[in-house]
Amino acid sequence: MIAAADGISTIVATPHITEGVYDGSDRDEQISRLKQRFRENDIDIQLVPGAEVPMSTCISAGREALEKLAIGGGPYLLVETGEATPEQMGQAAYSVRLAGFYPVFAHPERTLLAQRHPDQLAEIISRNEAWVQVTVASIDGLFGKSVKKTWEQMAKAGLVHLIGSDAHSGRVRAPRLSGSYQELCNLVGEKAAGIIMLENPQQLLAGEKMRSPEAFVQPSSRSIWSRLRR
Ligand SMILES: [Fe+2]
Repeated sequence: MIAAADGISTIVATPHITEGVYDGSDRDEQISRLKQRFRENDIDIQLVPGAEVPMSTCISAGREALEKLAIGGGPYLLVETGEATPEQMGQAAYSVRLAGFYPVFAHPERTLLAQRHPDQLAEIISRNEAWVQVTVASIDGLFGKSVKKTWEQMAKAGLVHLIGSDAHSGRVRAPRLSGSYQELCNLVGEKAAGIIMLENPQQLLAGEKMRSPEAFVQPSSRSIWSRLRR
């Protein structure tokens, strides 16, 4: 209900996969159950199955296993970043590409890699055709100043392709996105914000190629990251 009131029409459910604890094999069954509850409560929101896949699983699992965890059974896989070294992140992205999917890194702005070595993160993203999803809580400053500064620098460099609520409940990181739209517009301009918040989510759900907003980021917003990428 919170999501519907916020104007959200589709939610991708991305439970954490944890090796030896939860492998996501019951996700379709869980989604069906949730859809039923939505119907019973007149909640008009589409539910799409996904998963947040740890880098170790990305590296060790083959195509068949990853296919079961991909977003809506399409070509995108949400990859948990955790505290990654550049090598692990690069290896995870390469393995996902090798299996035939596009990695979407979940909240890399929270990693020391992004905060201290932005050039290395930018290189991994461009080399592996990877994508980046930033968490609303990072935009709101809930993870502190350095995370907030990092996401802003990434957005100015055109390295933010999606924004996710990373909702955990109605209270903890509730499923809301609209509050971050204005901040994104102020930072990168309306055109780039539209790609990030409207166009790319639709492309992802349709299994089509997303677009980098880089070319549309207002020139005044461009940061040192943009220069590092060239
Ligand atoms: Fe996560």
